Amino acid sequence: MSKEEKNENLIVLKLEHLPAIMKLQEEILASLPSSDLYAPFSSHDFSRVLGEQDQGFSLGVFVAERLIAFACVLFPGEGEDNLGYDLAFPAEEIRRVAHLEEAFVHPLYRGQKWQQQLFGERRARIQAMGRYRHLCTTISPFNYYSIKNALAQGLVIKKLKRKYNNQWRFILHQDLQMGHVLPVPSSLTKVVVDQRKKLEETRLALLLEQGSIATEVSRDDDHYTFTLLGKHR
Ligand SMILES: CC(C)(COP(=O)(O)OP(=O)(O)OC[C@H]1O[C@@H](n2cnc3c(N)ncnc32)[C@H](O)[C@@H]1OP(=O)(O)O)[C@@H](O)C(=O)NCCC(=O)NCCS
Repeated sequence: MSKEEKNENLIVLKLEHLPAIMKLQEEILASLPSSDLYAPFSSHDFSRVLGEQDQGFSLGVFVAERLIAFACVLFPGEGEDNLGYDLAFPAEEIRRVAHLEEAFVHPLYRGQKWQQQLFGERRARIQAMGRYRHLCTTISPFNYYSIKNALAQGLVIKKLKRKYNNQWRFILHQDLQMGHVLPVPSSLTKVVVDQRKKLEETRLALLLEQGSIATEVSRDDDHYTFTLLGKHR
């Protein structure tokens, strides 16, 4: 399916779609190898991004009248959950942050790049609004496909932090004014992380803490290799 054909199946969702979204999320949760990979939204969370208010929006993909993919955006305003605070943004940038929140694809429809299509469509709609400059999102460090798809869309990993229920999350960011342009790095390092070891004790955690950003990932069984562009020596 081409990008254009894909867009024909994609619609902005409303509150009436809440039961279909909850059902799809339940199917996703049942299919996960580990509950650490995805922090589910409650029906209240979803209703925030399905309403008429300015809190966000949701996109869905329907195939044969069945919801098969979902993604949403939340505008956190100055709420304490704004990821701009985690990334130490200056106060005037906080209201220009848009969160890319939940995204999921039914297991039978994976491998068709729906997540990337939904990334691109959300970004285009956010840009068209003109008010937002920063896309931020959180992803589990071992949600390989999600990380890969986000990096492919030009987001970069900026931070590793314990977030929801104390679970580890990468915080990723894209400055819409910069597009895909990355800063010229003072160094480039590849770091291999063994999924079975403690993340906080890895060189990845240290380098991110020192201000490096991660822009690529590859995987070989339990080993993840991250490419970091750094301020580090
Ligand atoms: C992450 C997710 C949305 C990606 O779905 P997608 O858009 O279909 O992924 P892609 O099209 O990029 O798939 C790339 C490859 O990975 C495979 N793949 C994707 N997700 C997979 C998964 N969770 N488990 C195993 N394989 C998966 C695809 O089959 C495809 O393989 P192929 O290239 O050999 O055909 C989907 O895996 C998902 O819904 N996961 C559960 C919820 C979740 O983690 N959401 C993100 C929270 S941040």
